[in-house]
Amino acid sequence: MKIVIVNGSPRKGNTYSAINAFVEGAKDNNDIEIIDSYKIKISPCVACGTCECYKGCVSKDDSNPTVDKLVNADMIVFATPVYWWGITAQIKLVIDKCYCKGALLKNKKVGVIAIGGSPTTNVQYELIEKQFQCIGDYLDWDIKFHKSFFANKKDDLLKNEGAMEELKALGKEI
Ligand SMILES: Cc1cc2nc3c(=O)[nH]c(=O)nc-3n(C[C@H](O)[C@H](O)[C@H](O)COP(=O)(O)O)c2cc1C
Repeated sequence: MKIVIVNGSPRKGNTYSAINAFVEGAKDNNDIEIIDSYKIKISPCVACGTCECYKGCVSKDDSNPTVDKLVNADMIVFATPVYWWGITAQIKLVIDKCYCKGALLKNKKVGVIAIGGSPTTNVQYELIEKQFQCIGDYLDWDIKFHKSFFANKKDDLLKNEGAMEELKALGKEI
């Protein structure tokens, strides 16, 4: 499979560790590309409607090349830290621009990884899962997994051997 991972974190911390563990498990059987949302330039959607949900975005930034990578993927993995009980602004910019080719983003296999500084009993993980479920219902996505992890300091997840193993196994079995 062609797997595109959208990294919503701006630092080499827990999300980066989660992605690396997942890639470690998945790399032998899949072609994997990582989009670091903090490295690309994507302006916010201005709801001009020019795209008609399939023509692409009028913005001359990284919007179209980024969305095209998602359109051409068999599977998309969204990996995000929790910021204010939700996904990060960086990853939301990418998701908003999916509108410009929403009609071409149907029936994707999708995975979601959310990492926050509060325990996984916090409602924030449910809110994020629900958001992706709703997007997935709208776009007929086949959501293969939603994983939530508790990690706060940059290297907390890397030190969590159980989480690292779980993510590697997830990549292997996908
Ligand atoms: C702006 C900001 C907002 C945050 N909001 C939350 C939050 O609402 N809930 C939470 O559990 N952690 C919150 N955190 C902590 C991060 O989710 C946590 O440190 C996470 O591990 C960061 O992932 P990273 O290392 O991949 O960047 C916040 C951190 C920042 C910088």
